[in-house]
Order: sequence, then C-alpha cells, then structure tokens
Amino acid sequence: MRSTAFLAVALAIGAPGADALLRFSCSELVTERLDPLVFPGSAQSPHLHQIVGGNSFNITMDHNRHDIAQESTCTTCEFSEDFSNYWTATLFFRARNGTFKRVAQRPNVFFDGARGGGMSVYYTPPFDGTKVTAFQPGFRMIVGNPFIRNETAANKYRQLTFTCLDSLDTRTGETKSMPNRICKEGIMANVRFPTCWDGKNLDSEDHSSHVAYPASGTFESGGPCPATHPVKIPQLFYEVIWDTRPFNDKNIWPEDGSQPFVWSYGDFTGYGTHGDYVFGWKGDALQRAMNANCDTCNGVLQRQSIAQANQCTQKQKVAENIDGWLTELPGAMPITGPQPGTGSGTTPTNPTNPTNPGNGGGGCTVAKWGQCGGNGYSGCTTCASGSTCRKQNDWYSQCL
Ligand SMILES: *[C@@H]1O[C@H](CO)[C@@H](O)[C@H](O)[C@H]1NC(C)=O
Ligand SMILES: *[C@@H]1O[C@H](CO)[C@@H](O)[C@H](O)[C@H]1NC(C)=O
Ligand SMILES: *[C@@H]1O[C@H](CO)[C@@H](O)[C@H](O)[C@H]1NC(C)=O
Repeated sequence: MRSTAFLAVALAIGAPGADALLRFSCSELVTERLDPLVFPGSAQSPHLHQIVGGNSFNITMDHNRHDIAQESTCTTCEFSEDFSNYWTATLFFRARNGTFKRVAQRPNVFFDGARGGGMSVYYTPPFDGTKVTAFQPGFRMIVGNPFIRNETAANKYRQLTFTCLDSLDTRTGETKSMPNRICKEGIMANVRFPTCWDGKNLDSEDHSSHVAYPASGTFESGGPCPATHPVKIPQLFYEVIWDTRPFNDKNIWPEDGSQPFVWSYGDFTGYGTHGDYVFGWKGDALQRAMNANCDTCNGVLQRQSIAQANQCTQKQKVAENIDGWLTELPGAMPITGPQPGTGSGTTPTNPTNPTNPGNGGGGCTVAKWGQCGGNGYSGCTTCASGSTCRKQNDWYSQCL
C-alpha cells in the first residue's frame, strides 16, 4: 500500500516533506470496560478497551454537555492540545488449559517509554495538497464492527489490518485476519478511518454512516469523496502494537497449530477489529496543523514529552481484574466464530477446518467451536443441561 511505503520512507529518512503527516505517541490513559460511544451511561460495557488521550474520558460523554478540551486537565498524547480519546479492544492469549492472559502493548518506533505501550496516532491531510477540514467539536466515529467474523464482511472496511512484526520496523504484509504464525516482535493492529464526511453530522446512529471511504481508489491514491460525503477530512490512523513476545512458543500454542490470540470482544479471527474516536483538540489546533501540513509542527502546536504524557492517568471507574490468568474474558464475553480446537471433541464440525473438532466450548453436547447453531452452521444445537442455546447476534449463538 502506498501509505505504508511512504511511511517506511518517512521513517527511514525522518524528514518532513511535501507529504507531511502528524505522527505522535499517546500513552495509556486507562484500560477498562467502558464505551461512552456505543454504551453511554453504562458501567460497564460488554468488552474491554484500551483508551488513550484526554482525562475527561468518562462513562458518558454527551457532546452537547461534555466539552472535552475544557473538561480535561491533561492528556496522554505528545501534542498537549489534543484531549481527544482514542480506543480499541484489547488482546488476550488463550492457554491450552483455557485460561486467558492479557497481552500487553509496547511502544512503537521512536516512542520508547510510552506508559502501557499506548498507541501511535496519525492525522494525514490529502497527499495532493487539497484542502482538508479538521474534525469539529463533538465529532466522533467508529470504524469496523466487532460482530464480523469473515473476510467478505470485513472487506467493507478497506483498511483495517494487522502487520506481523518480524522487526519493529516491518511495514509490509498487512493481513485482514490475525497473523497465523509467530511474529517475533509483536502484532501491529492498523486502524485507518474513512476520510470523507457528510459535512453535517457530528455523529450518526451507528457512529459510522456520517463518514465514508473515497468513492473510488483510496485516500492514499487520491480517490474522490462520494457525493453523499463530499467533505475531505484528515486520515485518522492508529497503530497499536501487541507485545506477543512472552507467548511466541509453539509449545504453548493450540495443538492444532492455529494462533492463540483472541480479542476482548470474543474473536480469534481479527475480522471484527475496530477503533473508536472522540474528537477533542483545543480550539483550532488541529486545523492549524493540517493547514501548515507539518510533521513535528514546532511553532504550530504545543508539545509535551512522553514522560510528561505518562503523568496523565485515570483509575478504572469500576475496578476489575484484567491481569493474571483469567478463567474467562472480562465481562464473561463469549467467543464467537472460528476458534482453535483442543482436540477434545470427537465430531469434526468446524466448517472452516473439517479436521478440527473444536473445543466443545460453552457446554455443547457436540464438540465444536463454541456455537450451538445459527446462520450457515448447524453442528451443535443441543446444550448440556444447565446451559441454553442463546442467540448472540444474527449469525452466532452459543451455549451459556
Ligand atoms: C465522570 O462523570 C461523573 C458524573 O458526571 C463525574 O462526577 C466525574 O467527575 C467525571 N470524571 C471525570 C474524570 O471527568
Ligand atoms: C493455565 O496455563 C497457564 C499457562 O501455561 C498457567 O500459567 C496457569 O497456571 C494454568 N492455569 C491452571 C488453572 O492450570
Ligand atoms: C459473513 O458474515 C456475515 C455477517 O457479518 C454473514 O451475513 C455472511 O453470511 C457470512 N459469509 C460467509 C461466507 O460465511
């Protein structure tokens, strides 16, 4: 992809050019089960998130009442006028005995010392120099969908990918699903948001339909915005590096050889990857930076060191154990979709891997991969006594 090629060059020479981009580190603010976009007012939300940015992040962030730049007193990001919040799901390792361990994050190239690993955030104006409209106060959006479990559905989101890091500089070989081999230095989740806006709505019911991808081509190739979403917005892009190094041993991976990492929303495939954004730059700081087309933006933006950014933290609003070996994912999140087998079953029922009998998860009387019926799959419809087959969404159900 052109963006990654460009990035590799930019990183290699470290020099600002005509194609400037803002790239900065944001340390961890808090890792907790809150989601003020999809589940405002709800403590807690179904799955665990890692959150960076301004410290006004809260259970509810109603844009009519919650002035992020005003209510925040610090931010975990290097640009100290950026009180936005950025978050993604978190990753877990599932051991052969079925218990889970949270995978830590690690800092990206040039961002050593970022507390909790955090993430790298990019805002890129169009490469052809056309005018870009920065996000407005109250703007928020989500890209991706945690319920997706196959590539066809995931292709709707063109640029949500993973990079298997053979070195921290690896920027090639992006995949739509989780890497299925050992990634020596970790797994990088790449979350690129749509770059066209309807110009009117700060949010939408699904938090996605007020933005769109270019009508043809990509942001990187200068594709035009569709008539429904004519306003070019910066490309917002997260890179999150999951430190899989403690688990890079095939002897502790599933016996069927598949990869052992599962997302906090119950997904081994990675197709459900998603990112959330709540705009919170102070005043017109982001627009100024986009207009200046600057990289480091000295004299344009105020900056703090990573050490200073690390001082900004929040406590979990509802304390919950997310570390240690857990017997279930936080919030008892069920795992849906294809998942590794442990060899405990007798009937080959996993349609994506017919020789893999699955783990019999959830107490089904027929061993399989956690499902008890549902669209396109009928391997197990009977649950062990004490559990019932419950519909999780339109295409998966599970014995719970
Ligand atoms: C979160 O919201 C609650 C209730 O409105 C408020 O009391 C609290 O101060 C807020 N916390 C932060 C960090 O803004
Ligand atoms: C499960 O496996 C992990 C990793 O090998 C180990 O650390 C943990 O103690 C095991 N838990 C139980 C209950 O056996
Ligand atoms: C892929 O998932 C979607 C739901 O996201 C479902 O409607 C569709 O049938 C699935 N396709 C295949 C080939 O399994």
